[in-house]
Amino acid sequence: MSKAAVRAHTNIALIKYWGKADEELFLPMNSSLSLTLNGLYTDTFVEISDAFTEDQFRLNGQLQSEKETAKISHFLDLFRKEANRNEFIHVDSVNHVPTAAGLASSASAFAALAGALNMAMGLNMDLQTLSTFARRGSGSATRSLFGGFVEWQKGSSSKDSMAIPVDDADWDIGMVIVAVNKSAKKISSRLGMKQTVETSPFYPAWVESAEKDLVAIKKAIQVQDFEKLGQITEHSAMKMHGSMMGAATPIIYFEPDSIKAIQAVRELREQGILCYVTMDAGPNVKVLCRLSEAEKIKEKLTAYFSTEQLLISGPGKGIRSLTPEEAAEYDWSLT
Ligand code: ADP
Ligand code: DP6
Repeated sequence: MSKAAVRAHTNIALIKYWGKADEELFLPMNSSLSLTLNGLYTDTFVEISDAFTEDQFRLNGQLQSEKETAKISHFLDLFRKEANRNEFIHVDSVNHVPTAAGLASSASAFAALAGALNMAMGLNMDLQTLSTFARRGSGSATRSLFGGFVEWQKGSSSKDSMAIPVDDADWDIGMVIVAVNKSAKKISSRLGMKQTVETSPFYPAWVESAEKDLVAIKKAIQVQDFEKLGQITEHSAMKMHGSMMGAATPIIYFEPDSIKAIQAVRELREQGILCYVTMDAGPNVKVLCRLSEAEKIKEKLTAYFSTEQLLISGPGKGIRSLTPEEAAEYDWSLT
C-alpha cells in the first residue's frame, strides 16, 4: 500500500489558454501565462492498494458518480501506465475553491492529483515533466505545479507541451477576486473553447494576438512594469471573451454584476489606483493589483459587493506535500 497527500494552488491566466489543437492530448492552440494564487487551493490524498476492487473518487467528502469517477480513472491510467502498475486507487480531494465556477478548481485539482500520484507511485518526475501529465487532466492544471508567474509553452507534442516557471512573483502584486456567482457554470471551458475554435470567425485573430501578448507580458514581468502587465492582462481576457461571443451560438459568461465590477475597476483607475480585470469561463471577475493596494480596492468594491464576495490573494507557491499533521486534519493517515 502507498499513500500521499499534496496541496496545489489555483492559477489565474493573464494570457489565456483558449482552444485545443488536440483534444485527447490537451495540446493548446496558444501558449499561456498565469499567476499562481495562495488563497485558493486543493488538497488531494491518494491511496494505492492491491486490496482495492475499484477506483474511488471522493470530492469534498462526497463519493462521486460513476461518470465523475470514470474521468478520474482515465487520468489515473496515465500514471498506472507510466509506473507499470495496475492496482486500483482511492482519491479523496477537498477544494478550498468553489468547484466549476470559473475559479480554476480544475487547475488546482489535477495539479494536486498529479503531485500525489507522482509521490505515491515513487515516479520522482521533475515538475516540468509532471506538468505534461497534469495537462491531461485539465489544461490549466499544467501551470499550477509551479508558483508565481508560470508559462505553459504550447510545444509541438505531448512531451514538450509543458509549464516553465517565469518569475516567483515575489513583488508587490496580487488579486482581488470578485465572486459574482459561485454556482457551477452552464458551459464548461472544455465545451466553450471547442465551440469557439470550430465556429468563431474571430478565433484565428485570438491565436495570433495571444502569441504577441505573451512576448510582451514576459518583458513587462522582467522589468516589473505593473501598468503594462495589467493592460496586457485585461486586453487578453477581453479578446478571449470577444472570440467566444463570435461563436455560432454565442458564448457569454458575463452577468450584470461582472459588468458592474469591470466598471468599478475603471472608476478606480480614474481615481489613480492602478488595477485591471481578468475573467475566465464564468462570471467571476479577478482584479489584478498591487497587493499593497488590495485592501483599499476591496474597500471600494464593497460599495457594490458584500465582503463575502471579495477575496484578496497574493502570489502562491508550487505544489507541496501536506505534513502528517495537516493530512490528519482531514482524517487522512499518511502512515
Ligand atoms: P473550474 O472553473 O472550477 O476550473 P471546470 O469546469 O474547468 O471549472 O472544471 C471543473 C471540473 O473539474 C469538475 O466538474 C470536476 O470534474 C473537476 N474537479 C474539480 N475539483 C476536483 C478535484 N478536487 N479533484 C478532481 N477533479 C476535480
Ligand atoms: C478560461 O483548463 O478548465 O480558464 O483543458 O478543457 O480542462 P480544459 O480547460 P480548462 O480551461 C481554462 C480556460 C480559462 C483560461 C486559462 O486558464 O488559461
